This record gives sequence, structure tokens and C-alpha cells, in this order.
Amino acid sequence: MTEMGNAISADGYSQIAGLYQFLELMMFGGDLHRARLRLLPLVPDSGPFLVLGDGDGRFLEELVQRFPTCSVVSVDHSQRMLDLQRKRIENLSRSGLVTYRCGDIRCLTFSKASFSGIFVNFFLDCFTDTELDDFLPVWLGWLDEGGFLYYSDFQQPNSGFQKIRGRLVLDLLHRFFRYQTGLSNRQLPDFDSLFERLPMELLCREEGSGGLLTTRLFRVH
Ligand SMILES: C[S@@+](CC[C@H](N)C(=O)[O-])C[C@H]1O[C@@H](n2cnc3c(N)ncnc32)[C@H](O)[C@@H]1O
Repeated sequence: MTEMGNAISADGYSQIAGLYQFLELMMFGGDLHRARLRLLPLVPDSGPFLVLGDGDGRFLEELVQRFPTCSVVSVDHSQRMLDLQRKRIENLSRSGLVTYRCGDIRCLTFSKASFSGIFVNFFLDCFTDTELDDFLPVWLGWLDEGGFLYYSDFQQPNSGFQKIRGRLVLDLLHRFFRYQTGLSNRQLPDFDSLFERLPMELLCREEGSGGLLTTRLFRVH
């Protein structure tokens, strides 16, 4: 994505930031939030953590409450989303352990071994297969030895009624985000083959919403 493409995407997310939770609830009820939190009990209690594209901060709030002594860096290219994150957690006693970086994650750098875990909830689908091939290994390189990747996202169910429902829902979402943020994807990236090519071991995986949602925890080698 070009610099201009990134600005369009950031503006598009900023425009819908205040409505994000409402739109999500209208379409999915609590399913997406359950998917975000599903494997949190398995996460080791040792930061620092990196949270990428957390949007309006509902996951960040849970993370800070669950791991009050861990420091967290939250990156998002939408300033409005980061403002919502800050507002959401400013009354938590350990909110001072969170720092915010506004910018395109493809242009930011962190040192090797800066984090023990990276969280990507409904974030990797903002990128094309080629971008993920190029950038996901870079982001994983910021992890400590044996660090983890925490991932939740949509997936295409592969049988019966859920397959048809999945196609319709994913098509609608791609159209909406293409219009609103300039997303170039017309379907989900091929996450399974991407993950297979990376030096990661799947520790746990759970599905939700009839197979439309997946949450996975990986150890990165
Ligand atoms: C689809 S939303 C997901 C929000 C949240 N993680 C959730 O679970 O609903 C994607 C988020 O990633 C941010 N984002 C998208 N592309 C980005 C990029 N290149 N760099 C940094 N943030 C980005 C958007 O501003 C938005 O907050």
C-alpha cells in the first residue's frame, strides 16, 4: 500500500471509530469479542506485549485488566482509534503501562526481542497475502526467543449452511471495508498457508460462530 493508500485507510477507520462497536454488535452480537478473548487465559503473565490495530480498545482494556503489571505498546494508524483506546483505559489503575504509537505498522521499527507476545485481532486481514509474506516475519522478529503470536480473525467455513453464510458475510465485509477504507482484498488472505511457512508452532486453536471465527495461539521459534 502506498502512503496515500495508508492515509485513506487511516481516515476511513477514524470516520467509523465511534460507531465501530455498535456496527459490530448489530452484525455479530458478542461473537467477535468472545473470539478476541477466547484464549486469553492461556497467555503467559509476562510482558511486554505489542497490540496491533486494536481499534477502539475493547481488547486492550481486557488485556490491561488481566495483566496489570505488564507493559503494552499499542499501534494503530488511526489517531481517532487510539484516542478511544486511551479514553477506555485511562481510569484503570495500570493504564500508565500502556504506550501508544500512531502510524502504519509497515513503517515502524522495534528492536529485536522487544516483546514477549504480539496480539493481532481482526488485523491481519487488512493486508494482502504479499504484504503478509513480507511483513509478518519482520513483526515476529520483534519477539523474544519463544515469544507468542495471539491471533483471532474470520475464516471461511467449508461445509453446509455455514459455508454459504460465511461467503455472504465475508463478501459483505470486504465490500464495506473496500468502500470505507480502500481495502484491496476481495477475500481473506490465505492465513493457513502463511502460518505454515513461518517458524511457529500452534499451541491452541478454537473456533466460534459456526466456524466463521478462529482464535489461535502460536509459539514463535
Ligand atoms: C478491522 S479493524 C480491527 C480492530 C480491532 N482489532 C478488532 O478486533 O475489531 C483494523 C484496525 O487496524 C488498524 N490498521 C489497519 N491497517 C493498519 C496499518 N497498516 N498500521 C496500523 N494500524 C492499522 C485500523 O485503524 C483499525 O483500528
